[in-house]
Amino acid sequence: MEQIFKNKVIIITGSTFGIGKTTALAFAARGAKVVLSDYLPDEDTEKTIKENGNDAIFVKCDVSKEEDVRNLVAATVAHYGRLDFCFNNAGIEGTPAPATDCTNENWDRTININLKGVWYCMKYQIPEMLKTGGGSIVNNASIAGLVGFGNMPAYVASKHGVVGLTKNVALDYAKQGIRVNAVCPGVIHTPMIDRFTGGDQAAIEQLKAGKPMGRIGQPEEIAETVVFLCSDGASFITGQAIAVDGGWTVQ
Ligand SMILES: NC(=O)c1ccc[n+]([C@@H]2O[C@H](COP(=O)([O-])OP(=O)(O)OC[C@H]3O[C@@H](n4cnc5c(N)ncnc54)[C@H](O)[C@@H]3O)[C@@H](O)[C@H]2O)c1
Repeated sequence: MEQIFKNKVIIITGSTFGIGKTTALAFAARGAKVVLSDYLPDEDTEKTIKENGNDAIFVKCDVSKEEDVRNLVAATVAHYGRLDFCFNNAGIEGTPAPATDCTNENWDRTININLKGVWYCMKYQIPEMLKTGGGSIVNNASIAGLVGFGNMPAYVASKHGVVGLTKNVALDYAKQGIRVNAVCPGVIHTPMIDRFTGGDQAAIEQLKAGKPMGRIGQPEEIAETVVFLCSDGASFITGQAIAVDGGWTVQ
C-alpha cells in the first residue's frame, strides 16, 4: 500500500475495539506511527501493527479524565516528537430511555465521554499541531449528530454537540493550518452494535430493513473516510460533518 502517511503521527482514542481499532490498522498500513489509546488495555492491535513492520504505542487514557488526555498528548510527543493527525473516536451508546427516564448518571457519563472527551482531546492536541504548522483532526460523531432517533437523549445531544464543536474549532484554527471535521457513521457492525442487538440475527436484520443499500456498514468504510480526511486530497475540507451511512439520512 502507498505509504502516504510515512513519518506522520496519529492519536486514535477508543482504539481497543471497533471503528477505532480498524482505523488504527488503516493508518499503520499507510506508514503512520499510531498512538493507540483506550481506557481498556489492548496488546493485540499494537502487536499486529508491529508484526506488519509498522510502528505503534499504547497509552491508557479515559477521555473523560482531563489528566489522562493531557498525559496521552504529552506521551505522544515525548515518544514520536510530533502530532499530525487525531481521530477522536472514543464513545459510548449510554442506556436507552426517553428523556424523562434518562438518569443523571447516564446523562453525565454519556456527555462526559462523548462530548467533553472530544473537547479535552482537541484542547491538548491543537497546541502540539500548531508547533509543526498544522494537521488534521477527525471527530467521530454519528448520524445521531445530524438527526434525532428517540429514546437516546444523552447520546443524540452528545453527538449533535460534537458536530457543533467541530464547526467552531474548525473556524478557530482554519488560518493556522489545522483542519477539523466530523465523520457521522450510520449503523456500523462493531461490538457496540453487537451489544445493542445482543448478537440476535433478527435484530440485525431489523437494522438493515429500510436502509437504502439494504445493509449495515463495516468499520473499514469509516476508516477509509478518516484516511481521506487526513490526506492531502482533503486539503480544502474543514468544519464538515460527513455522513457515511449508505444514504440513510437522505431518505
Ligand atoms: N457502531 C456504530 O454503528 C456507530 C454509529 C455511529 C457512531 N458511532 C461512534 O463511533 C465511535 C466508536 O464506536 P464503535 O462502534 O467502534 O464502538 P465500540 O464500543 O465497538 O468501541 C468503542 C471504543 O471506545 C472505547 N471507550 C469507551 N469509553 C471510553 C473512554 N471513556 N475513554 C477511552 N476509550 C473509551 C471502548 O473501550 C472501545 O474500544 C463511538 O464514538 C460511537 O458513538 C458508532
